[in-house]
Amino acid sequence: MGHYTPENIVTNEDLVQIMDTSNEWIVERTGIEQRRWFNPDKDTVSNMATNAAKMAIDRAGIETKDIEFIVFATITPDYFFPGSGVLMQRELGLQGIGAIDIRNACSGFIYALSVADQFVKTGMYKTVLVVGSEIQSSALDKSTEGRSSSVIFADGAGAAIVQASEDQSGILSTHLHADGDHAEELYVKDPGSSRKVRLSKELIEGKTFNLTMNGNAVFKHAVVRFSEVINEALEANGKSKEDIDLLIPHQANLRISNFVQKQFALSDEKVYNNIMTVGNTTAASIPIAMSQAWEEGRFKEGDLICLAAFGSGFTWASALIQW
Ligand code: COA
Repeated sequence: MGHYTPENIVTNEDLVQIMDTSNEWIVERTGIEQRRWFNPDKDTVSNMATNAAKMAIDRAGIETKDIEFIVFATITPDYFFPGSGVLMQRELGLQGIGAIDIRNACSGFIYALSVADQFVKTGMYKTVLVVGSEIQSSALDKSTEGRSSSVIFADGAGAAIVQASEDQSGILSTHLHADGDHAEELYVKDPGSSRKVRLSKELIEGKTFNLTMNGNAVFKHAVVRFSEVINEALEANGKSKEDIDLLIPHQANLRISNFVQKQFALSDEKVYNNIMTVGNTTAASIPIAMSQAWEEGRFKEGDLICLAAFGSGFTWASALIQW
């Protein structure tokens, strides 16, 4: 695992300077104390991913040239097309290998991990690089009107090397779901291709380029889907909640994580949260959390790790990993 978070720290007090909000409101409703927003002169979605990937490559003890395929999860690509996977492939000097982008928002990393897992299990590839990287801050409405979502979302990247092995460790199973009925509860509408004109002054003024979220609907569905999909992963592997050594939920909101923790009666040591310092980084959230949890010694060889996510789409997913 590896990660990269932009240097630029934005505290709740910084937000108070640009919108009508307060540190107390943000901490109480989301748990976030600070987040990272990218530096437009330095950070791109693909180069943040490249930085995270280099850390993962180094820690995995492999060489960059060992990577045979790239799965890149992002809903905030550098270009409208092509995807950011090919841009990172170029930055890593891996021209020629396949690269795909996954656009499943907060569940994107688990979807990407699942794709990598299938390729490895079928024997098509031995070493796959999986990343999640996002720049959300440039799509946020940072005025008071947009405050309920702009205080939550943030930028960063995380990466994993998924490799074939002979022992029993690794990805035990992944579980992927979606319900398009709720597509517009959390989305960025423009620049939509089905518009007669993709870009216009009226569209910009209408704020349809900004992230729009129905926070209440997201919250209500998230708490139900998180628990469903964690149970699904446990049942598929004949495990119970007592077997979980570490739950790493997508860092949507600390209140959601705490709710899920209570539902499964897990102690604080068994749930990893870092939203307090990095905010909600969409597809990058789980790999950043995994990388930081590993650095902090929160899991060790043989531990059972459960990943779970919920987000735009709606999509939700889980993975059970024997480390
Ligand atoms: N600062 C201060 N006040 C704010 C605010 C902010 N940043 N954002 C909203 N408010 C105000 C609202 O304007 C509203 O004021 P009113 O009562 O005078 O109308 C009040 O706070 C309550 O707003 P509401 O939207 O009902 O708040 P909430 O309790 O539902 O909390 C969220 C809003 C977004 C924090 C909450 O819905 C949530 O956590 N949703 C899940 C979001 C999430 O996890 N997204 C990530 C998905 S991957």
